[in-house]
Amino acid sequence: MRGLIFWNLFAATCVVSANSLPPRNYDTHDYYAVHLSPSISPSDLAAHLGVTYEGKIGEIADHYLFKTLKQDNDVVQDAVEDLKRRRRKRELGSEAHPLDAVRFNQKQKLKPRMWKRSRIEPLTQRAGPPKGDVMAQQREIANSLDIKDPIFNDQWHLFNTQIQGNDLNITGVWLEGITGRNATVCIVDDGLDMDSDDLKDNYFAQGSYDFNDHVDAPKPRLADDRHGTRCAGEVAAGRNNACGVGVAYNSRISGVRILSGDISDVDEALAINYELQLNDIYSCSWGPPDDGRTMQGPGILIERAMVTAVQQGRGGKGSIYVFAAGNGAASDDNCNFDGYTNSIYSVTVGAIDRKNLHPYYSEQCSAQLVVTYSSGSSDAIHTTDIGTNTCTSSHGGTSAAGPLASGIYALVLEVRPEVTWRDIQWLTVMTAVPFDQPSDWQTTKIGKSYSHQFGYGKLDAYAIVEAAKTWELVKPQAWLYSPWMHVKQEIPQGDTGLASTFDVTEQDLKNANLERLEHITVTMNVEHTRRGDLSVELRSPTGVVSHLSTARRDDEAHAGYVDWTFMTVAHWGESGVGKWTVIVKDTKVNEHKGTFTDWRLRLWGECIDPTIQGLRPIPSASDDDDHDVTTSAAVHTTTVSIPTPTETVTSNPTDHIDRPVNQKPTETPLPSSTMPFEPPVTAAPEASASATGIPESFLPSPFPTFGVSKRTQIWIYGSLALILIFCGSLAIYLFLARRKRLRNASRDDYEFEMLDDVDDDEARQGLNGAAAGGKRGKRRAGELYDAFAGESDEELFSDEEEYRDEKPEREGGVYDEKRGLRGEGSISDGDETASGSGSGGSRRLR
Ligand SMILES: *[C@@H]1O[C@H](CO)[C@@H](O)[C@H](O)[C@H]1NC(C)=O
Ligand SMILES: *[C@@H]1O[C@H](CO)[C@@H](O)[C@H](O)[C@H]1NC(C)=O
Repeated sequence: MRGLIFWNLFAATCVVSANSLPPRNYDTHDYYAVHLSPSISPSDLAAHLGVTYEGKIGEIADHYLFKTLKQDNDVVQDAVEDLKRRRRKRELGSEAHPLDAVRFNQKQKLKPRMWKRSRIEPLTQRAGPPKGDVMAQQREIANSLDIKDPIFNDQWHLFNTQIQGNDLNITGVWLEGITGRNATVCIVDDGLDMDSDDLKDNYFAQGSYDFNDHVDAPKPRLADDRHGTRCAGEVAAGRNNACGVGVAYNSRISGVRILSGDISDVDEALAINYELQLNDIYSCSWGPPDDGRTMQGPGILIERAMVTAVQQGRGGKGSIYVFAAGNGAASDDNCNFDGYTNSIYSVTVGAIDRKNLHPYYSEQCSAQLVVTYSSGSSDAIHTTDIGTNTCTSSHGGTSAAGPLASGIYALVLEVRPEVTWRDIQWLTVMTAVPFDQPSDWQTTKIGKSYSHQFGYGKLDAYAIVEAAKTWELVKPQAWLYSPWMHVKQEIPQGDTGLASTFDVTEQDLKNANLERLEHITVTMNVEHTRRGDLSVELRSPTGVVSHLSTARRDDEAHAGYVDWTFMTVAHWGESGVGKWTVIVKDTKVNEHKGTFTDWRLRLWGECIDPTIQGLRPIPSASDDDDHDVTTSAAVHTTTVSIPTPTETVTSNPTDHIDRPVNQKPTETPLPSSTMPFEPPVTAAPEASASATGIPESFLPSPFPTFGVSKRTQIWIYGSLALILIFCGSLAIYLFLARRKRLRNASRDDYEFEMLDDVDDDEARQGLNGAAAGGKRGKRRAGELYDAFAGESDEELFSDEEEYRDEKPEREGGVYDEKRGLRGEGSISDGDETASGSGSGGSRRLR
């Protein structure tokens, strides 16, 4: 008996120690996150600085939290700078000092309060009577599974009786007895009503915590704390007499509450990998504002927390992050401007509606992996709500899509708990189902269809679980970093783009131990007086095009891109060998101009030899410190000629008479005729001299072209449902795009003459990611490239303006150039320190 008590005490202590930091009180105290080298203990540093040591920052190695009473100063930074000053003045020698152990320090700042939106919840108005035989089939399935949940029949995303096939294709998985047992999904949100009849049996208290009110149970406490509970219901609502069922109705569901109050980066870092050995999947239906003007990512602490989870979570298999793509499509927003969705560590999930149509809100980007069902076409997701037995029929936005993916991944984990975080992404790529909707579908190197709007298609629960059963696990992750490519040329405006290339050889990949590609990231610096005018695309050696960045009509920021990292999943499975081209465009001819400064390519993928492959070092701001170093290589300029675009208008789907149908890429587009060579605009003299006579043609394989000028091709249509909550009436505005322009696939084809292609052995040093950290190479070509005619985004969207039911948020436009904007972390370790949050701005529910 006594033994049992001791055991319980011991167990309780263990649980507490997983969250050993005392609650923060930002009203009375300041908090400092410090990364220390092992040469000093945190208590010794605290004694030296006269601050209080609070504890380790969760699972992030060697990171500690200190506090002082509230004051204006940054005591850690002041001490670090004071030491530097004294050394400079030779008041102190270079002998060891306790502060030398400080590798990074950051005074914590509260981020602006989270902000919620209701625009994503259209009034339910289900259309048409379901077919009798399909209803009988549904009844039969429900009977076999003993599902008696009252709103199961309304949960069209699980079994669609109105449009057959437009659902998760999940009942076959359940009939095999696969329901998410032993998998845990953690909803990182505004709480989770663990007292709901629909959630209480699956609620997993150990994986849950409230970082807003600093209590164990993440109970929704504010009037509008409904979002997390609704997401939780989608994943794990029980099979019972309350509401409906979740995708993984026998999985465990936990909640981490962060969206209901002000938090700091440390809080978010702790939350985002909370109990990483117990929680398997973190479902995040939020992010920086989706206003089309924000460019913001996780602060370096949060990024480190995610890397920690991916490397150590789930017993080393890696925590699985699912992020909603964002709801800013109507404001031109693009999920590559969001550092959470464009992280290689997160699965970015966009939305389609019950008709497989693109809902007006769902953002596109090259980081988007997959889509699944959510609101639109007069219906939404039916799920659990807060309360003992309350349901909602109006859960929507990409917020509602993300958790459905999380639930499906829980099913995968039940079948194959040993899959890694990258296997989840592979399985998604291999089994997602492309569907017949107009978009910029292009066929990738491995024969998959990819669209920036729909990723690799829609998730199919049956297909992914089936594939998971026999899936051969991928080998560990390897990477190859290019040196910084210094371009430093003005970007021409309008139809012309500035292109820069980097060649990867087979030997480079061997040296990097990299066998085949998964994610590609491009970190870049562009100076510009109006960020929204810019667009960037990446062309792989095989001709697959990623639109890394698209123009955003409302993005007035007097900044370009500052060490921002864009990501693409469109090159999944390519070998990587050959010429990679980045093309920066200034899409608008106006007074705003800019310069393409530099860029760096990072290829991520499966390694060749797992026995020599290590883990990626924890990300540090100094990863990108080296780009100011001058290199010796010349800048080469090349003109690229583009055939005159041909406009094609194709037929429209019957249910959207004005919606154009984009063509699938033709198999063998004809290469365009080569235009007369034009003299390089700003070529370095030696480059021009050595260039002649080494023409090289670049004939990308077929790709349908959209992208920047994708805007011009995305047929804006869409219905915006305005919920007039207070009077309870609804108005639906149908907005139909007027323009019908479609460029055929061949318009993207071009040839260009390379003026010079000097050998780049030198550049190649430091290619191997494992060793590339501080290496630098030489700069490579910057080529002028004549792109297709751009079209004003403003024009395209102008009609829509009046229908937007959301006022642009002032605070939403806040971006932090020095920190929040930086994808790879801008707060450097070592002697450069920073105070304040790594990511200003608020989160928005999606
Ligand atoms: C959907 O599930 C059924 C089994 O219920 C299966 O036969 C079918 O192949 C699945 N669809 C896809 C695309 O895998
Ligand atoms: C659940 O997980 C535990 C520990 O990981 C394992 O021992 C057990 O076999 C699993 N149960 C099922 C039903 O898979």
